[in-house]
Amino acid sequence: MYNEIDFDKIDIDSKPPLEEPARQYYFIERCRERVKDFEQKNGRLPKACVTTFGCQMNARDSEKLRGILKQIGYEEASEGEADFVIYNTCTVRENANTRVYGRLGQQKPRKKKHPHMMIGLCGCMMQEPEVIEKLRKSYRFVDLIFGTHNIYKFAELLFDRFEAGEQIIDIWEGTDKIVEQLPNKRKYAFKSGVNIMFGCNNFCSYCIVPYVRGRERSRKPEAVLEEIKRLTKDGVTEVMLLGQNVNSYGKTLDTPMTFAELLQKIEKIEELKRIRFMTSHPKDLSDELIEVMKSSKKICRHLHLPVQSGSTRILEKMNRRYTKEEYLALVERLRSAVPDISLTTDIIVGFPGETEEDFKETLDVVRKVRYDSAFTFIYSRRTGTPAAAMEEQIPEEVVKDRFDRLLKEVQTIAGEVCAVHEGTVQEVLVEEISGQDDACVTGRLSNNLLVHFPGNASMIGSYVKVNLKECKGFYYIGELV
Ligand code: 5AD
Ligand code: SF4
Repeated sequence: MYNEIDFDKIDIDSKPPLEEPARQYYFIERCRERVKDFEQKNGRLPKACVTTFGCQMNARDSEKLRGILKQIGYEEASEGEADFVIYNTCTVRENANTRVYGRLGQQKPRKKKHPHMMIGLCGCMMQEPEVIEKLRKSYRFVDLIFGTHNIYKFAELLFDRFEAGEQIIDIWEGTDKIVEQLPNKRKYAFKSGVNIMFGCNNFCSYCIVPYVRGRERSRKPEAVLEEIKRLTKDGVTEVMLLGQNVNSYGKTLDTPMTFAELLQKIEKIEELKRIRFMTSHPKDLSDELIEVMKSSKKICRHLHLPVQSGSTRILEKMNRRYTKEEYLALVERLRSAVPDISLTTDIIVGFPGETEEDFKETLDVVRKVRYDSAFTFIYSRRTGTPAAAMEEQIPEEVVKDRFDRLLKEVQTIAGEVCAVHEGTVQEVLVEEISGQDDACVTGRLSNNLLVHFPGNASMIGSYVKVNLKECKGFYYIGELV
């Protein structure tokens, strides 16, 4: 286990070990020497900042990067103060890429002023060959560029950058490797994301993820369980199991196991109080899983179930492999098994060929399901995906109009759905001091809604009963009971 490694005992005069993670421990130690040099020269430790774009998988990867940086000796700082700035990028929609180029533009003059500064780029956007081409040509000031498959080699790549003194680019096309036991630094002491699988095999026709995250690979159940047990010993009581499609967990293991079976094993970990997971693909959500959710005391009453579109015709073009009716029937089964379940979703508007009729089908699903909240996206054309080559891309003003109408519908319904819990007493996990009022804390309900109520920092990480006095649309104002 990495927290039992005595880094001082690593012999850095010997050759780097070939096996992982020992090899990375070795390079962490080698990087540490560089940090010590920096400290001697500057009278302070160097500062680093990891900025995350995109999803929870990226957020979890960033925790790993922060863990490695901490072990190397970096202090955490804001982006504007850091000697080493790392952007962990997303490329699911074009505007994610645009934002990264914008940030790089901001860092360039800073780096000119402070030449010792380093800039790193990693994550999904780096898996796109056109991006690398552009960075190679026009962004020579970026020091270190790596992708999603070799993130575990961060320490080694950083060391290579120190040695080479010039831009390092290392992108892999894929991997079947999962490296366990690397350092990581959690954002919250009491809850944590836990990867259960990587990659995606679904190839929804609009989505770039299978190309940048590679084929589906599940972590071994023993590794997942061991990590969660270790986390609970460290004070964690809530885990979020992460994967692009958790419902197909275990299919690629030597001894296959279903996601429902994995959940049952996780449920047995005594100190654990709450289990969440995302993302669920409707086509793979089994009745076995619904049964497990129904009888579970720990699985939270929330399911994120991306619908993407309400039109069977568009769903087929999206390669989602379910119809509108099948999706609605699934919601029905879920609701009859777990009546108080909160449902959230992702919806794309303006997919190629989407007609007003198709869009109305989407509105119809929204009205029938009555989601607790929905992430609505304007379709973004991603090079290399089948949808990018489809004819009938929808004009911007039509998409914008549909998007506004959808958002209004989603928000009105979500406000009504949220309000149904008003006046009830619920158990919440206290997460942090409220951003709006220092005298209040913010807690999360099992169904993922937030409640602000009077409290103080000593309550963070504990479970308390709160009266949900007033619904404010998407959150509550409450009081301890
Ligand atoms: N355009 C718009 N939204 C997209 N998503 C994935 N690819 C695209 C795209 N090309 C959305 C889907 C997915 C969420 C994470 O991002 O709704 O569920
Ligand atoms: Fe993309 Fe579909 Fe895989 Fe989700 S399931 S990551 S939308 S390809």
